[in-house]
Amino acid sequence: MPSWKDVRADFPILHQQVNGRPLVYLDNGATTQKPRAVIDALVRYYERDNSNVHRGLHTLSMRATDAYEGARARVAKFVNAADPAEIIFTRGTTESINLVARSYGGKLGRGDVILCTEMEHHSNLVPWQQAAKASGATLKFVPFIGANAEGGLDLEALDRLLTPQVKVFAFTHISNTLGTINPVAELCRRARAVGAVTVIDAAQSAGHAPLDVRLLGCDFLAFSGHKMCGPTGIGVLYGRFALLDQLSPDETGGGMVVSVDFEGAKWKPAPERFEAGTPNVAGAIGLGAACDYLDSLDRVAIRQHDDELARVAYEKLATLPGIRLIGPTGERGGLVSFAFEGVHAHDVVTFADEDGVALRGGHHCNQPLMRKLGLTSTTRASFYLYNTAEEIDLLVASLRRTLKFFIG
Ligand code: ALA
Repeated sequence: MPSWKDVRADFPILHQQVNGRPLVYLDNGATTQKPRAVIDALVRYYERDNSNVHRGLHTLSMRATDAYEGARARVAKFVNAADPAEIIFTRGTTESINLVARSYGGKLGRGDVILCTEMEHHSNLVPWQQAAKASGATLKFVPFIGANAEGGLDLEALDRLLTPQVKVFAFTHISNTLGTINPVAELCRRARAVGAVTVIDAAQSAGHAPLDVRLLGCDFLAFSGHKMCGPTGIGVLYGRFALLDQLSPDETGGGMVVSVDFEGAKWKPAPERFEAGTPNVAGAIGLGAACDYLDSLDRVAIRQHDDELARVAYEKLATLPGIRLIGPTGERGGLVSFAFEGVHAHDVVTFADEDGVALRGGHHCNQPLMRKLGLTSTTRASFYLYNTAEEIDLLVASLRRTLKFFIG
């Protein structure tokens, strides 16, 4: 078990005051902070090896290429992919899902069904709306149970919805608004039984729990570097090689072709086929360093730490007058969303900031989910490996001050 106090010391940004108070950073669902090891890897790359990859025959280019491909192999190991060729570097989860929706979406047609859930982030919803429009396929949704979505996904409804017409089933691993942990291996198993391809949005889980694509049995899985201690602007699409190999690229240009003439071009195999143009070399190397960092801490322990913080937060927040807690009452991801009658989430976040506490307030890119809950926004506290139970006390004290101001 890591010493969480020592872990905190690895993150330079946390040791500052905001508005005269020690920073309490509880907006990890939006982005996580970066440990010294990741910052150093980026600096080292730019100071020593920076060059374009896959093109140059000079030493720096070869070093950069080795480091970039090394990062791909590192990420493959992080998610237990069978082959580094199954790892495509993208700008983030959003781009990864768009890539599948456009490339795999090109195989869909009228009569086909794309299945999502009612708890998807816009990034795992809007690309499928576009794919449905482009192909004539129908988009359907697995509902959630309970006025606060406390019952998770309705698995009986899933049984009815998962027909052989379903060609894609796209769902989140951990909901960024509810904290629900979906039974992803089970969802993949059921989808496979009807021949549907599975796409997992792992943005909120990749840095928070062990992730094994072969154990899950998924076809595609998307995540972002910046939500797991890595840099912004780098993300991953894992795809089963047999599937990737059948897909056309959604972006074309340099680096992804075997040969070009004036009439046309021949694509390279995956992953190069999906990485047109100069990639984010530094970002990939930073992401590789983030994988090293997280593995050095033990991802099972990180999950337990998240779980414990979310449990303590849920219990302490429940003591606040008039609070409405959203999402599961039991095990949840490392976040808690809540709303107060008569106090807008933006006011809650602004008041918390005065106390040095960073939260997120709004619809969290989950507008249809919010509407179904009868809300326009929630406040969300989201935790990570450097957060402590003392910080939850500071959060609750700050919220009490806000409630006193607005409600008395
Ligand atoms: N998807 C990110 C969040 O939930 C931005 O905050």
